[in-house]
Amino acid sequence: MIVDLVLSNGKAYVNNRIVDCSLAINKGKIFKIGKEANMPKAETKTDLKNLLVLPGLIDIHVHLRDEGKAYKEDFYSGTAAAAAGGITTVLDMPNNNPVTMSAGTLRNRMKIAERKILVNVGFYSEFPRNMKEIEEIVREGAVAFKLFMAEQIGGLNIDDDHALLEAFKIISGLKVPVAVHAEDKIALKKAEEELKLANCNDIEAFLKAHSESVEVKAVKHLLNIAEQTGVHMHFCHISTENGLKAVINAKKSGMPVTCETTPHHLFLSVDDLRRIGTLALIMPPVREKHQIAALWNGIENGWIDVLASDHAPHTLEEKKTKLVWDVKVGIPSLETTLPLLLTEVKRGRLSIADVVRLMSEKPAEIFRLKGRGFLKEGNNADLAVVDLDKRYKIDASKFHSKAKYSPFDGWTAEGKPIKTFVNGRLIMDEGEIVAKAGSGEIIRRE
Ligand code: DOR
Ligand code: ZN
Ligand code: ZN
Repeated sequence: MIVDLVLSNGKAYVNNRIVDCSLAINKGKIFKIGKEANMPKAETKTDLKNLLVLPGLIDIHVHLRDEGKAYKEDFYSGTAAAAAGGITTVLDMPNNNPVTMSAGTLRNRMKIAERKILVNVGFYSEFPRNMKEIEEIVREGAVAFKLFMAEQIGGLNIDDDHALLEAFKIISGLKVPVAVHAEDKIALKKAEEELKLANCNDIEAFLKAHSESVEVKAVKHLLNIAEQTGVHMHFCHISTENGLKAVINAKKSGMPVTCETTPHHLFLSVDDLRRIGTLALIMPPVREKHQIAALWNGIENGWIDVLASDHAPHTLEEKKTKLVWDVKVGIPSLETTLPLLLTEVKRGRLSIADVVRLMSEKPAEIFRLKGRGFLKEGNNADLAVVDLDKRYKIDASKFHSKAKYSPFDGWTAEGKPIKTFVNGRLIMDEGEIVAKAGSGEIIRRE
């Protein structure tokens, strides 16, 4: 038998350890992992020169935009950024124009994406106005629902606890997770109004408005409702000690709860935000040092399940408005996430096992992405080939994302994604995109 590809002389993270091995790839799947002598003949052979192969990263929190927001990012540029960052699957957020919140908008989004994507893409949907449509959206293939609690985005009235309860009941029956942006709208708007009246419109005011208690309030509120339903709640970008504590308590009580944090919440503090300015403004914002320490603790103790980029690109003009309230919050981060994590591996704060657990294994498990997240014979050949010894400066002007800025611009990273394979196909090689648009696969919940 002749397989499509053999990757020789590599190392790979297999069965929870790094082993010297070669990998045979056929028809998009991992055909064999083993000694070079046991590899089948191949159409193409690539010498990995001792580089490390990881299961391709799965980024469960990405705003790919496109459609009405294509000027910020589109399916091609966003998935090119993912491939450049060693990420082989992304889950797309629904705050689009139009908002993804019906079978129709989802179907249309999938159709547009199909021709443009370079990595695998699964889709979140916001909740529809009419709850009867929830099942239709799941049938269309949404991998999960998103609930944005900071402001009304979807069709479900976030001020109506009874409606939330009904929605959670339906979704729990369908066994689909709900990912939440946990900031309490009422508390947030009240603080914002007071600050505006006092003529406080700068970064300090933004930090005051987006306080720890605003996060904690939303987390606790939703846990109270979720508890009555058995729904799987996934808390996005947890950023505070007490927000995390509330999640931990729910976990301890046996509720099906998971959470994520982001590289910017781990690596940037309010001091960085003050120094860099509104370019680094995101929601929830970066925090004080003691909050960051609590998040690192949560990673070390295994309470934080997932790391996700929350890639949220905007134009540079949108990032620099006069009043802080008008700044578009979010930063592009698909191309900095893995480099920053590998740098921490070099420093000894994280292990390769941590990176793979947080960005491949757990995401695949939580969102039921079958055949992904692990290097295993029979699984999809989604691979990130990395050079752990490569030292270089992060250069945002070279990003594949349309948003060519980053709070991490100029940082020295150690560890670089060198090749990205998606379903057995080489997509990125030495920073260049080498595959056609449409090479990625749309992921539908089965
Ligand atoms: O920083 C953020 N950016 N937080 C959000 O909740 C939304 C996101 C975006 O879409 O830009
Ligand atoms: Zn969010
Ligand atoms: Zn987001």
